[in-house]
Amino acid sequence: MAKGSQAKQAKGSQTQGSQDTNVGHGGQVDHGGHEHESASEHETSAKTLSQPKLNQTDLRDIESELHQREIVLIEREIKSLRLQEELERLRPLSGLYRVVKSMATERKLDALLETITRETQNMLKCDRCSVFVLDQEKSELWTQVAQGLVGARTIRIPMSGTAIVSHCARSGKIINIPDAYQDERFDPAVDKHTGYKTRSVLCVPMRNREGSVIGVFQVLNKLAGPFTSEDEDWLEALTAVASGLIEQAQAYAEIESFVDKTLEVLAQTIDKRDPLTAGHSVRVTNYSLLIGSGLDVIAEDLDVLRYSAMMHDYGKIGVPEDILWKNGRLTPDEYATVQKHASITFDLLNNLPFTKRLGAVPFVASCHHEKLDGTGYYRGLRGEEIPFLSRIIAVADVFDALTSVRHYRNRMPIEKVTEILDAGRDNHFDIRCVDAFEKLPSDRVLKIMESERDRNTSEDITAFQHVTWKRLVEIIGGSRPKRGEDGLKDAFDRMYNFGLPKDYKPLD
Ligand SMILES: [Fe+2]
Repeated sequence: MAKGSQAKQAKGSQTQGSQDTNVGHGGQVDHGGHEHESASEHETSAKTLSQPKLNQTDLRDIESELHQREIVLIEREIKSLRLQEELERLRPLSGLYRVVKSMATERKLDALLETITRETQNMLKCDRCSVFVLDQEKSELWTQVAQGLVGARTIRIPMSGTAIVSHCARSGKIINIPDAYQDERFDPAVDKHTGYKTRSVLCVPMRNREGSVIGVFQVLNKLAGPFTSEDEDWLEALTAVASGLIEQAQAYAEIESFVDKTLEVLAQTIDKRDPLTAGHSVRVTNYSLLIGSGLDVIAEDLDVLRYSAMMHDYGKIGVPEDILWKNGRLTPDEYATVQKHASITFDLLNNLPFTKRLGAVPFVASCHHEKLDGTGYYRGLRGEEIPFLSRIIAVADVFDALTSVRHYRNRMPIEKVTEILDAGRDNHFDIRCVDAFEKLPSDRVLKIMESERDRNTSEDITAFQHVTWKRLVEIIGGSRPKRGEDGLKDAFDRMYNFGLPKDYKPLD
């Protein structure tokens, strides 16, 4: 065997075998003349021999380090799991916090109930939540069911009924049903009617400070398993917070309804002085709110708009009746007297203790005769100086005045009304407000226009719902009806002219 091969073989063995065995082989193979090579080989062998020692240490180190890292990772994982558990545990608490926070921002009952419903669903991880409020007078529990964009539908359940919420309200006790179809208190007819499949039910009574039941929280179908006693505790806690908020919102709604009704009655004292102007303030309010909603006016401003529109002509209380009721054209002096009503509106409303939120009402109401080009009254404001809400009322006011019967004329032909609105764009009216009005669904406009009027009730206003006001005026003006628009012109004419004498007095 060649030396090289032997050496190679020896090396090969060294790397594989033990140290002692390989030294023996090396000594036997190499003889004289090869000392150097042999020494060098020996060194190499020594190096090679020391390598496994190092490797083993390294491996142990690596193993130990990996072990440490593994421990760190596991610890991290445990921490993260604990954090998740903690978050999961705190989730109901954050739901409670959100509901409590909504107290500061939400005074209105409907919006508050919606928030509570949403947060409860999220908090208890259930499919549905309904807040039933007790109507003491009717002895009924009512709740609102969201209906997409259409709004909400109110459902009423008698206190004496067989529904689980009725049981809960009567007994004042928590009802937790893990499997509805196995419980005799559950009436499957409800599911049959709604198409919903109830599995688990949890009902908690809502009490006021005196401890009387004022409603019931009902949650349905927990997403995982039945409702637990922990869920009962959370829902009870939420109910305790929510009942205070609901009571507060109910009290607020009562005050608001009282203020609304009072202002409406005040406004009617003006409208009713003359039967021909009856309903003007209410109609102007409703047109204004429609235009405002079309322009995405925020809820708080819609309240200012409502009260301002309702009271816009209140100053007419200071205008003598012989001028207000005059049958014919006004003299310049008489016209100047009528114009004073805007400043009287401001002075009277300014004495009312409006809350900060409604503080703009006197000014907004008194600006309804201002014109963008500054030729209006009574301050002669122009452009941006006129509150936007007053610009909305201006369009609503003129539209209602022209489409109502007056002492000196009948209702103005609708094309002419539109001409006047269009001619006033950018000089009298804000273009955005006229545009928003013309984009309104015509059934909404007609519903307001025909309110408080002995109209031919056989006319179906819903037939107009797919046509904007602008399009309806085009059809009335002779535009060829498209599919679904047939008959609208005749129906409108019958409605608009119902009960009016044929001989229109043209407006001069
Ligand atoms: Fe007015």
